[in-house]
Amino acid sequence: PEAITVQELAQRMAEKAPAVIKALMGMGVMATINQTLDQDTAQLVVEEFGHKVKRVSEADVEEGLIGDEDDAGDLRSRAPVVTVMGHVDHGKTSLLDALRKTDVVAGEAGGITQHIGAYQVQLGDGNKITFLDTPGHEAFTQMRQRGAGVTDIVVLVVAADDGIMPQTVEAINHAKAAEVPIIVAINKIDKPGADPTRVRNELLQHELVVEAMGGDIQDVEVSALQGTNLDKLEEAILLQSELLELKANPDRNADGVVIEAKLERGRGPVASLLVRRGTLKVGDVFVAGAEWGRVRALVDERGQQLKSAGPAQPVEVLGLQGTPSAGDDFAVVENEARAREIHEYRQEKLRSKRTTAAPASLESMFSAIR
Ligand code: GTP
Ligand code: MG
Repeated sequence: PEAITVQELAQRMAEKAPAVIKALMGMGVMATINQTLDQDTAQLVVEEFGHKVKRVSEADVEEGLIGDEDDAGDLRSRAPVVTVMGHVDHGKTSLLDALRKTDVVAGEAGGITQHIGAYQVQLGDGNKITFLDTPGHEAFTQMRQRGAGVTDIVVLVVAADDGIMPQTVEAINHAKAAEVPIIVAINKIDKPGADPTRVRNELLQHELVVEAMGGDIQDVEVSALQGTNLDKLEEAILLQSELLELKANPDRNADGVVIEAKLERGRGPVASLLVRRGTLKVGDVFVAGAEWGRVRALVDERGQQLKSAGPAQPVEVLGLQGTPSAGDDFAVVENEARAREIHEYRQEKLRSKRTTAAPASLESMFSAIR
């Protein structure tokens, strides 16, 4: 069934949220602005305001995109998706670069050749880890706000010679708010002034208790520069991901999130996607945010063309009609007509958002999508 938040409902009727809350109260329903209303309640409110109802909403669109829940029996283990965060200069980029070099496949295929916003490392034992290559609080916050929930684990980089700094604290707060487990990488242990114990003590002040101190936060002393203990860090990530029991159904239409997107000369709109579940295939029709496309080519971070990409796999996709935004969701749909419908519905929604001075007519805001 269709569900809608009080705020969304107010926006679509071009009414103020408190007025909607008041109307709900009059009906004996106590609701907050972010509360979700069921279809019948929403309809009563709409009628209360004297508007006509056409039951079409973003929720409706998304429900269509999300489709059925996967049966437990169809779920398969998938690689963890890891975001590296930390204070300026503590070595996030260096660590990502160093981890990238531990990929056993990259060695054979001639290394990683292009930046697609994320990459997957295959370890010697066959296990895989996906790293989001856009570390930075902005990207993370954006994705969190979108509720995309793409990050499974945060690796918090703390330079052993510098300790907890403001952005370290920010990163801790982001991870906590998103309820994403943290693994601490105490970096730069090669430096003369390195003091890992001090880092562990400082972490205590932020309620991060490492295992050595009786807590459940894993910490690993590393040197991104010298490549020290990268295997231990990867082991810690795999252990954490086992605890999380990360699973996805690979045998369904793909959905996931846009990591980055840009318009490239000669290639058209290009988006880096991270598949959340299902398998994305060449020829698939999909929507990404307010854009749509048909997969013309899939390219991995090594520049290799792929026929398909499964859960937790980052991939660059060609064939979009427009350029979506980072953090947008994407989903494969049944056909081009459906993709166009969603595209038009969302474009219209974007337009009505932009014109704050003159809100779009009720009719257009409720315009049918199917
Ligand atoms: P921003 O992206 O600017 O926030 O920095 P970052 O966290 O990505 O740090 P980056 O990897 O750029 O490293 C900052 C500096 O620290 C560089 O000069 C690195 O060479 C150095 N560095 C990173 N890791 C290590 C390490 O393990 N040991 C030593 N000695 N230096 C390191
Ligand atoms: Mg960096």
